[in-house]
Amino acid sequence: MTLEMERHNVLSGEDDIFSLAKAYYTTKAMLAMWRLGLFDRAEREGELDSAAIAAEWGVHEELVRPLFNYLIVRGFLEYTTRGTVRLTQRGHDAYPYRGYLSTMVGAYEPVFDQLEAIVTGAVTYGTDLTRSHEEMVRGLTALEDKMMGTVTKAVLDINARKVLDLGCGSARMLARMCELDPTLRAVGVDRDPTSCAVARETVEVCGLSDRMSIITGDAFDITMLPVDVLSGVDTVTVMFLLHEVLRQRGREGTVRLLGEIAALVGPRGRLVMVEVSGTIKHEYREKQLFVPEYELLHEYTNQRLAARPEWEAMVSEAGMAVVDVLPVDMCQSFCMVAAPISAEPINPDEQ
Ligand SMILES: C[S@@+](CC[C@H](N)C(=O)[O-])C[C@H]1O[C@@H](n2cnc3c(N)ncnc32)[C@H](O)[C@@H]1O
Repeated sequence: MTLEMERHNVLSGEDDIFSLAKAYYTTKAMLAMWRLGLFDRAEREGELDSAAIAAEWGVHEELVRPLFNYLIVRGFLEYTTRGTVRLTQRGHDAYPYRGYLSTMVGAYEPVFDQLEAIVTGAVTYGTDLTRSHEEMVRGLTALEDKMMGTVTKAVLDINARKVLDLGCGSARMLARMCELDPTLRAVGVDRDPTSCAVARETVEVCGLSDRMSIITGDAFDITMLPVDVLSGVDTVTVMFLLHEVLRQRGREGTVRLLGEIAALVGPRGRLVMVEVSGTIKHEYREKQLFVPEYELLHEYTNQRLAARPEWEAMVSEAGMAVVDVLPVDMCQSFCMVAAPISAEPINPDEQ
């Protein structure tokens, strides 16, 4: 439905504003359920008992119950005959997509809480405030199952020996690859210490410390990474990071990084990138699940989305050929596999 159609469908300006407020409160209530672990618990255990939860948290039940009552009114929860609550079909249907609550809203709350100050230049993103990296990684981790199969298969199919993941976040994807191929080695690089802590926990929990390591560092300049990190890398994965490079380093800087990746992996290596395609045609924007909102939050947080053909052009300018493009079950995302056409190896093993 286009915005114009939506406008004609509402009864009045008052209804219009109330429907916006309703969506805001529902989103905040759902975020609270997800952040407090109640969404997971309802899905896993089948029901939620507000009295038991209040006792667990050492608070009065009247603090917990209004949240449940509101989400009953909004159709995500319902009462059982025992007086507990459970997810409705709508709640169950929303559950696999709960990560969007964080990646679309929660992680950007620190930014959008100060939108007026950002728009008027009173504060600057990156200097005065940032999004919550922790919540971003948590949200993406919850959504990862939707693309886990595609990306791990792409990497395993090319028979990678050592994978370098730039902007690894929780490193769950890398760990999954290592679990599926017992000879694969992997290094994850992330600039954010909190993400690295989560990633190291993943390595620990999966028992992969003999084959996986996590480095805190800047992935925008891979030539500066330690030699032992780069040594033997034949595959680079970059998931949802290149659009940050595009905004921060521009097109030229992005092509330069892609060129460095091509040189690192060498002629037999591969780049496996996952990106969200920006929209090209304005008239299609509303038909897509979240692009206008997604584009807005990127505008204010140092990121720039590009359409798939633009990514293909940059990959080609960096001396690589696209060998495969696989669909990813996340809004407008794609997984592209590229191979260097000819590259001077900078991989220490190949020198
Ligand atoms: C959108 S998240 C994607 C995380 C992960 N690749 C995934 O798909 O779940 C982007 C990640 O890149 C990291 N990051 C951003 N800029 C970076 C940089 N210059 N160097 C290394 N990591 C960076 C962030 O800390 C964050 O963990």
